[in-house]
Amino acid sequence: MRGRFKWCVVVAVALGIGSDLFGTPAGAQSIEEKTQICASCHGADGKPVEKTIPIISGQPQGYLYIQLRDFKRGDRKNDIMQPIASSMEREDMLAIAEYFSKKPWPDLGQPRASKEISGRALSANRSVGCTGCHLDQFQGDGTVPRLAGQSRDYLTKTIADFRTRARGNNPGMSDLMLATAPDDLAALAEYLAGL
Ligand code: HEC
Ligand code: HEC
Repeated sequence: MRGRFKWCVVVAVALGIGSDLFGTPAGAQSIEEKTQICASCHGADGKPVEKTIPIISGQPQGYLYIQLRDFKRGDRKNDIMQPIASSMEREDMLAIAEYFSKKPWPDLGQPRASKEISGRALSANRSVGCTGCHLDQFQGDGTVPRLAGQSRDYLTKTIADFRTRARGNNPGMSDLMLATAPDDLAALAEYLAGL
């Protein structure tokens, strides 16, 4: 219960500050000021404060921009991120995406998957071809996200959201996730987190 309470406070504070931040005229604030609010959840050192919050530091600019745009449009639904993105202009989104893309990817220190889990994940990758898009070592590029070392709980959640289409901003990814066995996806999440 305590964790949940802390979470609510973080959200309330963040949303309160958020509406002020992007309500001011474009250019009135530096990029550091505009991104201060992000650190309260995504982490000042790039390590998210909760396991269901994704790493955004070091993620490609194109991918980050598309997510902010999709949250604003409502194509990607999320009670926390939609209000934050809703008051951003395109220029803000591009600048913020560039700012985070230039930061180093943090090491969350998640355990490496066992031999058995890794074997299952790699065999699923061979049949689905994840790395055909997510590239070698799941590093991502352009509008395709890096998956290597992403938070395991976040990966699990967003894969589940693709499957229910609660995350509806990329129907192709949803189709692919629905066509992949849940056990394979669980193995992939564990494997990717440990890379
Ligand atoms: C109150 C906490 C909170 C704050 C503040 C916050 N975020 Fe988020 N952010 C989240 C959560 C939780 C998610 C995961 C949403 C989901 O599960 O779909 C997320 C997701 C994202 C994503 C999608 C990442 C991915 O891998 O798909 C981006 C991009 C993002 N946030 C950028 C930002 C930026 C930029 C700011 C500051 C302007 C910010 N966030 C502020 C909690 C927060
Ligand atoms: C045809 C290209 C393609 C293939 C194949 C593919 N992906 Fe993706 N994937 C994408 C794109 C593009 C996105 C970004 C979608 C968006 O903009 O929201 C994505 C997003 C994701 C995300 C969300 C990451 C985040 O930070 O929120 C996960 C997780 C993911 N893919 C896992 C996988 C796995 C696991 C496989 C193999 C089983 C796979 N993908 C196969 C193109 C692909």
